Amino acid sequence: MTTTDSATSASDPATAASLILEAYASYRARLTDVIARAKPHFERRDWHGVQADSAHRLGLYNLAVQEGLQRLRDRLGPALVAHGTWAGLRAAYAPLIAGRDDAEIAETFFNSFTRRLFQTVGVDPEMEFVSPADDTPRYHAPWSQTIRIDATGGPPAAAFRAVLDAFEFAPGYLDPDGDAGRLAERTAAVPFDAIELARAVFYRGKGAYLVGKLFDGDRETPLLIALTNATGQVGVDAVLTTADEVSVVFSFARSYFLVDTDRPRELVDYLRTIMPRKPLSELYNAVGFNKHGKTELYRSLLRHLATSDDRFVVAPGQRGMVMAVFTLPGFDVVFKVIRDRFEYPKTVTHDEVRQKYRMVFRHDRAGRLVDAQEFEHLAFARDRFHSGLLHELLTSCSERVRLVGDTVDISHLYTERRLRPLDVYLREASPDAARDAVVDYGLALRDLAATNVFPGDMLLKNFGVSRHGRLIFYDYDELCTLAECRFRELPAPREDADEGAAEAWFYVGERDIFPEEFRNFLGLSGDLLEAFLAHHRELLGVHFWHRMQELHAAGEVLDIYPYRSAHRLRPTPRRPRDADGVSG
Ligand SMILES: Nc1ncnc2c1ncn2[C@@H]1O[C@H](COP(=O)(O)OP(=O)(O)O)[C@@H](O)[C@H]1O
Ligand SMILES: [Mg+2]
Repeated sequence: MTTTDSATSASDPATAASLILEAYASYRARLTDVIARAKPHFERRDWHGVQADSAHRLGLYNLAVQEGLQRLRDRLGPALVAHGTWAGLRAAYAPLIAGRDDAEIAETFFNSFTRRLFQTVGVDPEMEFVSPADDTPRYHAPWSQTIRIDATGGPPAAAFRAVLDAFEFAPGYLDPDGDAGRLAERTAAVPFDAIELARAVFYRGKGAYLVGKLFDGDRETPLLIALTNATGQVGVDAVLTTADEVSVVFSFARSYFLVDTDRPRELVDYLRTIMPRKPLSELYNAVGFNKHGKTELYRSLLRHLATSDDRFVVAPGQRGMVMAVFTLPGFDVVFKVIRDRFEYPKTVTHDEVRQKYRMVFRHDRAGRLVDAQEFEHLAFARDRFHSGLLHELLTSCSERVRLVGDTVDISHLYTERRLRPLDVYLREASPDAARDAVVDYGLALRDLAATNVFPGDMLLKNFGVSRHGRLIFYDYDELCTLAECRFRELPAPREDADEGAAEAWFYVGERDIFPEEFRNFLGLSGDLLEAFLAHHRELLGVHFWHRMQELHAAGEVLDIYPYRSAHRLRPTPRRPRDADGVSG
């Protein structure tokens, strides 16, 4: 079908729909290019290259949507914003993507166009793909996208050696036989007759991860092999064999992997067989399809509301000064709306708050910064809100929350995984669990410092505890890079009698930070304070912070391991940032 007359093309949905598909294809092609660089970066130890690409790829989606919109605008003119155009486009687009291995991502891509143009409140099923065309699991064992190594013909070490041979890297392995032997030793408690691994290697930061299962007949055990390149040659750094441990590597508090796949749903379904508790949305995020992860989160929210009587309530913990935070008791997510006004002493603006969330999105999240999804124009029935919460939202978030008839419209909010706020957790946990949490709180500060982040408002209430007992930060409005901070020692009191002065007699700049004062902020006492000091006393002095600043200024990319050092194959020299041998 060829038309030259633009009026005719405007009424030709198939041509316009193919423009959207072209934009989608160009997004996927550019994404594939970036992902293809992950392997050479790893092989050459080009960690700055990894960092740049990890941030760059996050912008590819919106870029492709913008380009596609521009082409559509050129072609359709005013018809672009006619509701009817999009019903036609949707009908024309559906057959174009049917049968694609990534059809669900292509649907989400289409929805991004309509949402951008129409600011739809809620969802419009005529213009958008609401429920997926095909929601049946697409992974079936045995999966063609895996390699399988038979382990019945020889010792386990030989099978692991075959695994390493199957995943080649340009500089080669430093000690493949030694690593294979150590892998066999570390997995000795798990009987297996075959090793299966996804062909796609998961790259992130300074690590490369092989993910799959050990089989004993039909009994499956999760398997994750972590590779590093510390010396210029590749080595096996760690091995994990439980769903919980693997799940921590795939955490919502870490940046998304660079992993090459033409079949996202198959890959995600495969990962679900390894980490059955992880929500579909988080797995899509983890493999880098975060817009579709958001679609899946929204769908699971609608499903939850449709199948329960759950009502939105204020989230447990201390009330935020910047954010109004609420949740559904039966759904593991918090909803955060920026308040109209911030109480003293908060001086940030709405724009700055949003910029901080954007900065976190692009930064290495180090396993310590919760992932946030940004939503616009959500609508819920009024009777789903606890009345006290609704009153609070309508009065303190009136710029973003409106009541229209019986519908609550929220023009902007963030969602995050719900954690147990640390202040609440410490009140209810056993003494041992509380001590562990306080020690991990210090490790979280160190991990953040290792990625050049100072959390700003480091009070206990701004950290949450995950299902795995990991400490994760969620209050971003004062977060900054270490370079933006000036870590200072408290000056010794002057001789001349100012000690009683109510205000500091020395100049305190906006970014001046006195680590000695952290002790007061923490509000810890007794055993918990002792546990913190035993592991992290150096965080209360300036030297630690100055050293971190120097390392970052020198362009060092520091190691953060997403597993405990007990899982590492080689004993490691003690590093200052994991004093107790626990890391990541
Ligand atoms: N991801 C989360 N999980 C559980 N509770 C949360 C989460 N994020 C925030 N909260 C709760 O909401 C409160 C306010 O949120 P926060 O992000 O700290 O905003 P503010 O900048 O207004 O303090 C927190 O003190 C905590 O109790
Ligand atoms: Mg807070």
